[in-house]
Amino acid sequence: MVRFTVLSMELMSHRAAGWKIRLRLSSDNPGVEALFETCLAHFPWRSSTADEIVRLRQALNVGDCLIAHEGNAGVIGFLILDRPKAYVSHLFVHDDWRFCGVGSGLLGVARDMARSPLQLDVDAQNEPAMRAYKAMGWVEKVGPDPMRSNQRRLSGP
Ligand SMILES: CC(C)(COP(=O)(O)OP(=O)(O)OC[C@H]1O[C@@H](n2cnc3c(N)ncnc32)[C@H](O)[C@@H]1OP(=O)(O)O)[C@@H](O)C(=O)NCCC(=O)NCCS
Repeated sequence: MVRFTVLSMELMSHRAAGWKIRLRLSSDNPGVEALFETCLAHFPWRSSTADEIVRLRQALNVGDCLIAHEGNAGVIGFLILDRPKAYVSHLFVHDDWRFCGVGSGLLGVARDMARSPLQLDVDAQNEPAMRAYKAMGWVEKVGPDPMRSNQRRLSGP
């Protein structure tokens, strides 16, 4: 069983795996963008990396960004939360760190910050992410339109 410890300085830490979750520092920005670009390489249906980077920077300017950080690897995951809407605009975990609880850890901390079940939009083509969200108890939400036409709006537990 994975054991988490909630600490005051860190929002969450996974002692065995050596990563922690905390709020973003400006020094994290290169790591966030590098991770984002690496992940986007597996999203061939997204049109332009440059446009996606613009969207990322806009979301970082207005949202709360959580960082999953490991001492040697640096930024291994991040999540951007629009707290008033309890809406997650970005959630990305580095390939090498998937299936280690990083994604569910980020979502759990964001859920606590929002004090409300979260929502997000997932690309219809993104079947691995859809499987992950289903495993975490997310369900498709009928009603609100997703941000983009080829997405599905999901609601978290
Ligand atoms: C989707 C993503 C965030 C999941 O992050 P992660 O750190 O691997 O997730 P976790 O390790 O916390 O796994 C949470 C649960 O989902 C399951 N899961 C994760 N990825 C899965 C996959 N590809 N297929 C099936 N189940 C999966 C895990 O087994 C776990 O289930 P469990 O609690 O029953 O054991 C990550 O795969 C990712 O960054 N993908 C690329 C970017 C992306 O698609 N982001 C989502 C945009 S909406």
